Amino acid sequence: MASDTDMAVTPTPTPASTRTPTGAGRNLLTDNPGLYEARFPDAGRLAGRWAEDCLRRHDAGRRVLDMGCGTGRDAAHLHHAGRRVTGADLSEAMLTHARAHHPGPAYVRADLHRFDLGQGAFDAVVCLDSTLLYCHTDDQLDGFLSSCRRALTPGGLLIAEMRNGAYFLGRGDLLDAPAADEFTWRGTVHRSTTTLTVDRTAQLLRRTRVWTTDDGAGPVEQRSAWRLLFPGEVRRLLAAHGFELLELHDGPGPRTEPPWHEGLLPGRTTDADRLHVLARVVGDRPTA
Ligand SMILES: C[S@@+](CC[C@H](N)C(=O)[O-])C[C@H]1O[C@@H](n2cnc3c(N)ncnc32)[C@H](O)[C@@H]1O
Repeated sequence: MASDTDMAVTPTPTPASTRTPTGAGRNLLTDNPGLYEARFPDAGRLAGRWAEDCLRRHDAGRRVLDMGCGTGRDAAHLHHAGRRVTGADLSEAMLTHARAHHPGPAYVRADLHRFDLGQGAFDAVVCLDSTLLYCHTDDQLDGFLSSCRRALTPGGLLIAEMRNGAYFLGRGDLLDAPAADEFTWRGTVHRSTTTLTVDRTAQLLRRTRVWTTDDGAGPVEQRSAWRLLFPGEVRRLLAAHGFELLELHDGPGPRTEPPWHEGLLPGRTTDADRLHVLARVVGDRPTA
């Protein structure tokens, strides 16, 4: 299952064997979407099923934008569930992979910090696996929400799933200590060492991840960051941008433990690692 990968976007796919050792500006997972799916498998399409469940529970129309669609697997799941889906991402490598491996949706390049894919063009925007947290600054958050507001029809839904800034309060055990991981892709062992630090001034969770492989390539260091977004901020931001908050909770969801499954209803707390946000554009919904 995908979980908050290093996702600084780069324009050109780079095979593992030709990666630059410094990793400057490059991103192993964004550049290699196949590796991303191998590293974070979601064979049961849990994230897509959860998103579809949210759409159904709130009676959303067919037109869905998956912002930060990554490899396209959630967008394709929603397409197969009968939605008319557009997947948008900034990474050309991800979009190329999505078109080839998860056909059905339209795939377009767009920046979540500010985008215009047509006024009222969608009945719902979904933004999964902490993609929203690549809005690091208040201006970027405002840009994202005003773009969603413009993209959505009156009564349209915003569905987001991401890490919870509040979870890191008082959790020094999660910070400043390298965590090791290892997996095999196409016969090559990939090892990563990940260190999280809190940048209190910027209100960011910064991550340094060093990749090594057993194919002779040098180590690749990648840095990325998520906005530390707190539940109270989410409430205030949504209200300021003309959204009515329908649900804000820490699970169950596609990346919680235990995970969501069909029939489970949203919780009421906002304490744990993941935040799930459902909000509706204020305004009358058009009659069919
Ligand atoms: C953690 S992945 C999540 C992908 C997918 N939503 C999923 O759940 O599997 C984050 C995605 O956001 C994309 N991304 C990062 N910054 C972006 C930006 N400014 N605009 C659009 N997409 C962006 C990355 O290319 C990547 O595909």
